[in-house]
Amino acid sequence: MLSIDIKEAFYGTKKVLSNINLQLNDGDILAVVGETGAGKTTIAKIISGIYKFYGINFNGSVHSDKKISFVPQNISESLDPLFTVEAQMREINDDMELIRDTLLKVGFFDVERVLKYYPHNLSGGMKQRVLTAMALLEGDVLIADEFTSALDRTTKFQIVELFKKLNEEFNITIIFITHDIELLRFKGLLMVMHMGEIVEFGDADSIKNNPYHPYMKFLMGSIPKEDMHYTKDRFKEVSINKTAACPFVEICDNSQELCYKIKPELKEHDERLIRCHF
Ligand SMILES: Nc1ncnc2c1ncn2[C@@H]1O[C@H](COP(=O)(O)OP(=O)(O)OP(=O)(O)O)[C@@H](O)[C@H]1O
Ligand SMILES: [Mg+2]
Repeated sequence: MLSIDIKEAFYGTKKVLSNINLQLNDGDILAVVGETGAGKTTIAKIISGIYKFYGINFNGSVHSDKKISFVPQNISESLDPLFTVEAQMREINDDMELIRDTLLKVGFFDVERVLKYYPHNLSGGMKQRVLTAMALLEGDVLIADEFTSALDRTTKFQIVELFKKLNEEFNITIIFITHDIELLRFKGLLMVMHMGEIVEFGDADSIKNNPYHPYMKFLMGSIPKEDMHYTKDRFKEVSINKTAACPFVEICDNSQELCYKIKPELKEHDERLIRCHF
């Protein structure tokens, strides 16, 4: 079980998160989506305990009975070009049987060959698999922060499938951070963030099929069709009203005077949390 209660988080005096409160059970999969600067990486750094190195302060607590491991975002800088996969994995855990087993788990069939490879022998997708295997050697809860940014579309979906497999077959708890709504193809939990706060939280399928919050409605309404070649950053198209108490008044069909004056709290509705007055 992982329980996260971040009351506030700061870089220096700049507040970047408020009231991020959630609990995950073993084997849960949670996706966190939100625009750039929403605070997704800050959450990941707090949860994985590496926040101190980044000058982040926070009030609250994070408790986990399992070890949490961060899957790094920058695949090219995260592997040492001078050492083989075997050497880099043995630095984390010297148990060769466990290493072989972990490489199989992340989808390598030719494990003996992969062990002898240097990073330059690996494609982007293979590097991501090795980094995932290394994270698995370290912990039972994986946090993958924008792991796909350096990968092409097909490979991105393959890595999403890998995470689904690790979750379903091996009960690995996964926190999956992305700003690519198209990658949300799994059953689990979804947290939608905006400016350091939760705007909608609940079952991923039910939010995707029927988003309640205007922000998520806007984002879901604009998913490109399967045959489109690129994903536009949908988050950049949202009109935000910075003077209104609720910044989404312009994209919302139900906005009323109240929304301009009083900021909505996070409310529970149909087993979801939604930051909306209505
Ligand atoms: N080292 C830093 N010093 C000061 N402010 C920072 C620092 N790193 C991030 N921030 C600020 O904290 C806020 C949250 O940043 P964070 O990196 O968590 O966002 P994010 O949701 O991960 O964005 P992205 O999608 O671009 O990765 C932003 O306003 C950002 O400008
Ligand atoms: Mg980030």
